[in-house]
Amino acid sequence: MSIYRDALRNRRLFGVAAIAAIGGFLFGYDTGVIGGALLFMKKDLGLHSHGQQQLTVAILLLGAVAGALIAGWSADLISRRRTKIISGCVYVIGAVGCALAHSYWQILAGRFWLGLAVGCASFVGPMYIAELVPPRIRGGLVSFNQLMITLGILAAYIVDWGFAPFANNWRWMFALGVVPGAALAIGMFFMPFSPRWLVEKGREDDARVVLERYRLEGDDIDGEIHEIKDVAEKEIGLRGLLAKGLRRMLLVGIGLAVFQQIVGINTVIYYAPTILKFAGQQNTGALTQSVYIGCTNVFFTIVAIALLDKLGRRFFLVAGTSVLTVALVGLGIFFASSGVQHSVSWLALACLLVYIMGFAVGLGPVFWLMISEIFPLQMRGPAMAVCTMFNWGFNFLISYTFLTLTDAITKEGAFWLYAFFGICAVVFFLTLTPETKDRSLEEIQGELGAETDAPLSRAA
Ligand code: BGC
Repeated sequence: MSIYRDALRNRRLFGVAAIAAIGGFLFGYDTGVIGGALLFMKKDLGLHSHGQQQLTVAILLLGAVAGALIAGWSADLISRRRTKIISGCVYVIGAVGCALAHSYWQILAGRFWLGLAVGCASFVGPMYIAELVPPRIRGGLVSFNQLMITLGILAAYIVDWGFAPFANNWRWMFALGVVPGAALAIGMFFMPFSPRWLVEKGREDDARVVLERYRLEGDDIDGEIHEIKDVAEKEIGLRGLLAKGLRRMLLVGIGLAVFQQIVGINTVIYYAPTILKFAGQQNTGALTQSVYIGCTNVFFTIVAIALLDKLGRRFFLVAGTSVLTVALVGLGIFFASSGVQHSVSWLALACLLVYIMGFAVGLGPVFWLMISEIFPLQMRGPAMAVCTMFNWGFNFLISYTFLTLTDAITKEGAFWLYAFFGICAVVFFLTLTPETKDRSLEEIQGELGAETDAPLSRAA
């Protein structure tokens, strides 16, 4: 893996990778921790209706949409670095607030506040890293970020399982989020400003100092500063994204963002223990089995990172999403056969494991990777922001409606609906999504019909 060879040649790059790890890890931890916490806080906070439980889970996602929006603006105004320091502090306050909540409204406020930091981390984190590390290892770090998200989810499941037997357990589950939050704020304090931000603020000399420390021997630093200035001048704003030649790319990016969510991934991530309880498990059994789901997610994300450059993105999108669709159909059959459910309760866990495997090799890493590959440099920032917001928005929609949906169209109906979206996703990948492996960005953008007013510069 050349990314690690390059990082070894310049050890400072490890520092950047570590910060990436903390941002992605927090994203995963805070989205994953609610699954187990919900089982216990329901009683303490009197969250009796499905509506109250769903909003407690999903309000974080609304906060994340707002967080991504605010972060996009503040990352330009006060810098990526300071935005990340603030987001670490926001995390710490949110974790303490959730741990101390005594009413439904307090937990809603706390979760929304945490969401602001999660949205910020999901957007500014990869952006900061992409601007600081040498261009050729950018792609690797984007997938590395996904690995850290899955590790954060796994850590949350382990914490949920570990604290389950104790009193006030759900408060501790939230409180532990203070540790990575503080680590992010303190870690970022020692990181440099992004060279791209420095150039935009007219601080070219400072940018050069940063680049000299974070580039490898033989890298063309003057060329890079020149390119940053060139691209900054031609950058297109949000309205420019709708220009004719760019629509198809945006369609692919938004399509991937929406499909990543509507196949129901976060009903599994957030409600795994609840689904396993539906299938007849007790609280502790459900939490133990969630840990298996978390481990499978991490393991197959590593497999994907190792093989994505060999077998291609489309292969994994199509194969992974087909596998998860079959698993969804299986889950539906399980819930539909009410008479025999108890004798085959292992089947629910088996389907969830196969589902998560399909997601972890396909839509999980490939969405984040592809949105960093398909857009020309001049529109990458705003286009990635739009795709990220669609992703959080549809995440909200699906998580917010899951329990109501199971009431309205039954559990099997809900999983079959997600399976139907899985089939639509596969058709979308086969017909509209380009292969990006081993191809220059110009080739990819050419296939997607790019014809901007400004010529597309050579993107890294
Ligand atoms: C998705 C998250 C999801 C996670 C699961 C990420 O790529 O954006 O919504 O919770 O994968 O591993």
